[in-house]
Amino acid sequence: MGIASHQTLGADPGPRERLLLDSGWRFHLGNDWGTGYGLSKAGNGYGPGSPSYSDASWRTVNLPHDWAIELPFDRTADGSHGFRALGEGFPQNSFGWYRRVFDLPASDAGKRVWLEFDGVYRDCTVIVNGWFVGHHEGGYNGFRYDITDLAKCGGSNVVTVRVDASQFEGWFYEGAGIYRHVWLVKTQPVSLAPDGVFVFSHFDGNVPKGPAEIHMQARLSNTTSAPADATATWEVLSPDGATLATVSRSSSVGAKARADLEQTASVPAPKLWSPENPALYKLVTTVSSRGKVVDRVETAFGIRTVGFDADRGFLLNGEPYTLKGTSNHQDHAGVGSALPDALQDFRIARLKDMGCNAYRSSHNPPTPELLDACDRLGMIVMDENRVLGSDSQHLSMLEGQVRRDRNHPSVGLWSLGNEEFDVQGTQEGKRVVTTMQELVKRMDPTRPVTCNAAVGNEYPGINEAIEVRGWSYHVGKDMDAYHREHPLQPNVGSEQGSTVSTRGIYANDPVRGYVSAYDDNAPEWAQTAETWVTYFASRPWMSGGFVWTGFDYRGEPTPYSWPCINSHFGIMDMCGFPKDNFYYYQSVWIDVPMVHILPHWNWPGREGQEIDVRTYTNCDEVELFLNGKSLGRQAAKRDFETKWKVAYAPGALSAKAYKAGKVAAESKVETTGAPAAVELRPDRTVINASGEDVAVFTASVTDAQGRVVPLAGNSLALAVEGPGKIIGVGNGDPSSHEPDTFVPIATSRTLPVDGWRWKKVADAYPVTLPELGVSFDDSSWDPIDVRGDVGSLGMRSQAVYRTRFNVEAKDLESAAVEIVFSRIAGGIAVYVNGQKVSGTVESRSSAIFDVKALLHPGMNVVAVPTANYGPEGAGITKGVVLRLQDAPPAVQWSRSVFNGLAEVIVQSTKEPGSITLRASSNGLQAGSFVLKSQAAPARPSVP
Ligand code: GAL
Repeated sequence: MGIASHQTLGADPGPRERLLLDSGWRFHLGNDWGTGYGLSKAGNGYGPGSPSYSDASWRTVNLPHDWAIELPFDRTADGSHGFRALGEGFPQNSFGWYRRVFDLPASDAGKRVWLEFDGVYRDCTVIVNGWFVGHHEGGYNGFRYDITDLAKCGGSNVVTVRVDASQFEGWFYEGAGIYRHVWLVKTQPVSLAPDGVFVFSHFDGNVPKGPAEIHMQARLSNTTSAPADATATWEVLSPDGATLATVSRSSSVGAKARADLEQTASVPAPKLWSPENPALYKLVTTVSSRGKVVDRVETAFGIRTVGFDADRGFLLNGEPYTLKGTSNHQDHAGVGSALPDALQDFRIARLKDMGCNAYRSSHNPPTPELLDACDRLGMIVMDENRVLGSDSQHLSMLEGQVRRDRNHPSVGLWSLGNEEFDVQGTQEGKRVVTTMQELVKRMDPTRPVTCNAAVGNEYPGINEAIEVRGWSYHVGKDMDAYHREHPLQPNVGSEQGSTVSTRGIYANDPVRGYVSAYDDNAPEWAQTAETWVTYFASRPWMSGGFVWTGFDYRGEPTPYSWPCINSHFGIMDMCGFPKDNFYYYQSVWIDVPMVHILPHWNWPGREGQEIDVRTYTNCDEVELFLNGKSLGRQAAKRDFETKWKVAYAPGALSAKAYKAGKVAAESKVETTGAPAAVELRPDRTVINASGEDVAVFTASVTDAQGRVVPLAGNSLALAVEGPGKIIGVGNGDPSSHEPDTFVPIATSRTLPVDGWRWKKVADAYPVTLPELGVSFDDSSWDPIDVRGDVGSLGMRSQAVYRTRFNVEAKDLESAAVEIVFSRIAGGIAVYVNGQKVSGTVESRSSAIFDVKALLHPGMNVVAVPTANYGPEGAGITKGVVLRLQDAPPAVQWSRSVFNGLAEVIVQSTKEPGSITLRASSNGLQAGSFVLKSQAAPARPSVP
């Protein structure tokens, strides 16, 4: 949250630990081991699901991670998901495995231990220490597992996550993998329940006048076998950290039960939260039991009211407040759906630059850090559920979403769903929405509920039941007629616009897949910016709306298809570079005088020809000048563009905007020279050495006078020095097939492990069998070929397999050294140089063990006791090798600029220092920038 931790009640931070579990995961792409656990017995994880399985040769990744952006583009892949080689037709790319080993200290014994996932795309299976702990369906809801009983306190633990991204959920790019944070949470047995704090403010009539009545709730959990007395204490802190109120409530919590406690406090003259003034209060909830503090949780909250009025539209703090919103997917250049938290802030800040005050998390629950950014920076969120459903599974996901998000002041309304074409006009749809809406109201009495049932002027179905009527497009007679016929129901423009355009392009080009950036093109079901804005301007009862979309996103490459791989709906491109419509919305949404001219002024070969020029301004008049000579003055009608025809001559095209007859804003576009240099500019010059923070660099190709060359497409070679790394690149070109990210690829080689001998034994189980030892003489044993498909060990037989193999010192310098058994049926254990490397050997998949620490230069011995109880032949089959893998070589990052610009996302390591980014291009003066990465307190994380 970026809020300084606050000590209170003389307590230490409390026994709860919430540790980030993002770093040091191992990742493998492929569908090689089935589900990773056996159904017949508990603790039956196999392959990577087995704790002893070696992942030493897997790539190391930090979360959040989206493997979909690492995949190549493929014309036969799903275009609405951005033509990545994923999903149907690409099974080998659609399953990923993640593994993470972590230690728990012995002192954790007796605590509750939870694993929390903020979101995984899509279905996933979680295995801990070989135990199946859960299967989660759905790509957008957070979920958690209590792993207390399986956790090894005072030992090493392994979590394995098998992710199945083979089925799409939406119709837009969704990413693949653990694309949000993972947390390890430890609590005392008497503690706050997960998401167990709820705080909201109440004012009579929902209008903030006088003191705010703060309602605080705590859900306590007692997992012990005896009832416990517990006290919840709530401390309310003002935005400047002063304690405003401290109240408490005590109760007995039954054995293995939960209890809900509630209190109220009064805050006189509260500072109200709004996008313009996002004042954040803090609630510190402390739980004590038997005289000791057992839990403590801090919750940021805001004091404000939201509501809708059928005539006045959306109300914030009791006053009409126009929603100047955009809808967005979680998807950004370079990183796909795996956004570092700082990128959430970057995107929200760009939207605010445009005058935007509202964000719709279409069409799914957002990442919690997006809401944190909206709380802090000031943005009202329509928090959307993924899909309609009132069965127990869907309701439990909806409840989880509301419990998790309801303390965020930014969340202004809940949306139950979007354009459910098959059911929105039906009575089933109405009943489902009624059940969902009732649940939301029970969980959160403070916020309105909507659902975007896109049915024009139709009432039967969802619209009969929903509190706030949502609208997709439909600008025109439907809205007026509906409002007339249902005058008591409030409305909101859930999805409006949407112009399709490409940054810096001024003529449609179906071959390259570009759409002109004039506000001229919209799909047949939608409208241009000017059309919807001017329609809504005279209808305050519509509450304003959410443009489809703030940013371009991968997939839905409307109106073209391949070679386009991302959408054109954004007011900004995939990188957050503004298209011209950005300035149109500024002219509508911001009152600070501004004027913008389009297009650019580089039209070689078109001298004397008329160019279609437009200006966007919020002033009264605009005067245009070409090379200093006035081309006339036009009245500028608010919310409308002003159109000009200008005979092209190179030079400067400039505009003066007048307010009440006085120049209030100016701007110009100039004809530039040829590309001469590369410039690098970050969004922030100092970042935190947290290993998570990022700087978002704009790389521009400029002429000799430092002006961005609007048509430049030069390719840049990128390099970083110091304690940072590039994590992604982009340029906003909707048809670019250049990589977003460059993945280091390790090479491996194998050495044969041959020359096996075997001997039948009466009992292969004892760990003390001399046949397993290093010095045992097996020269009299029979040789056996272990490369065949069928094992030689018959039913009810037991045997030991042994061999020796030579390794050299240089082999052992490899980053990963693993012994790979393609198959061992009936394996009891594997011993290397007399040491047991595995307790159980799974026969359903290859058995791979990390033996780097066990081998030495020269001869090494491996022994495998086996037992067969079934009719099939058992034993070692399909061959054995030693796999040696070197650390991957460094990768060379590159990206072209598109219409002059590219983006480079640089992430800090945990070392403070200077990070230098360099960009070079043939024939251009190279650019560099030194970014400061400052020491910062690391947030608590799992080592
Ligand atoms: C809407 C839909 C969006 C997007 C858009 C494209 O109907 O809700 O998700 O598909 O169309 O125009």
